Amino acid sequence: MNKKELRNKYLKMRKNLQYEEVEKKSKNIIQKLMDTAWYRQSNTIMSYIDFRNEVITRSFIKHALKDNKRIIVPITDMSSKILILSELKDFDNELCQSSYGILEPKKEYVRVVSCNLLDLVLVPGLAFDTSGYRIGYGGGYYDRLLQRLPQKTITIGLAFEFQIVGNIPVESFDRKVDFIITEERIIRHEH
Ligand SMILES: Nc1ncnc2c1ncn2[C@@H]1O[C@H](COP(=O)(O)OP(=O)(O)OP(=O)(O)O)[C@@H](O)[C@H]1O
Ligand SMILES: [Mg+2]
Repeated sequence: MNKKELRNKYLKMRKNLQYEEVEKKSKNIIQKLMDTAWYRQSNTIMSYIDFRNEVITRSFIKHALKDNKRIIVPITDMSSKILILSELKDFDNELCQSSYGILEPKKEYVRVVSCNLLDLVLVPGLAFDTSGYRIGYGGGYYDRLLQRLPQKTITIGLAFEFQIVGNIPVESFDRKVDFIITEERIIRHEH
């Protein structure tokens, strides 16, 4: 299957998930994440805010803020196809839905930070293979972000086990994540 076919297949599969299942598996994934040294040792963490049936990160973000982590969330800049990084301080009061339905910081709460600050980045995806390659929505947003991160930044894909596939077609601009966490396991690569 090519990327487009894989994207459609996994979009459809994810759409058919029951909310209870998404919630239960997400809790398990987030627990695994929070038990890692990668989490404990990170000061500044970028996390996507879950959209549709992505692995739920909302409670993680709130918890991490209470843990005194600096939390950075992405703002999708459609014109440049770049993710703008913004520090979030209060999950309940600083966000609103963008025109695409994704929660993003309201204008007055946009606090742009450099990607050089990031210790850990949580990456969403429709499908991943075990070497860390991924398929997203097809804009190349995360490929561009992963490319500009410093060497020290740890990148972790969050996915449900059914989203782990044998082989993903790779193009020259595709970037891998270092690790993938599913409800069943942590898939590790050399950093
Ligand atoms: N580093 C880059 N610089 C410029 N263009 C890029 C870069 N990375 C990807 N692109 C462009 O983005 C487009 C989409 O890439 P791809 O199909 O891999 O998306 P994706 O990885 O599924 O999306 P996303 O990262 O948004 O989840 C490609 O046509 C490619 O030309
Ligand atoms: Mg890609």
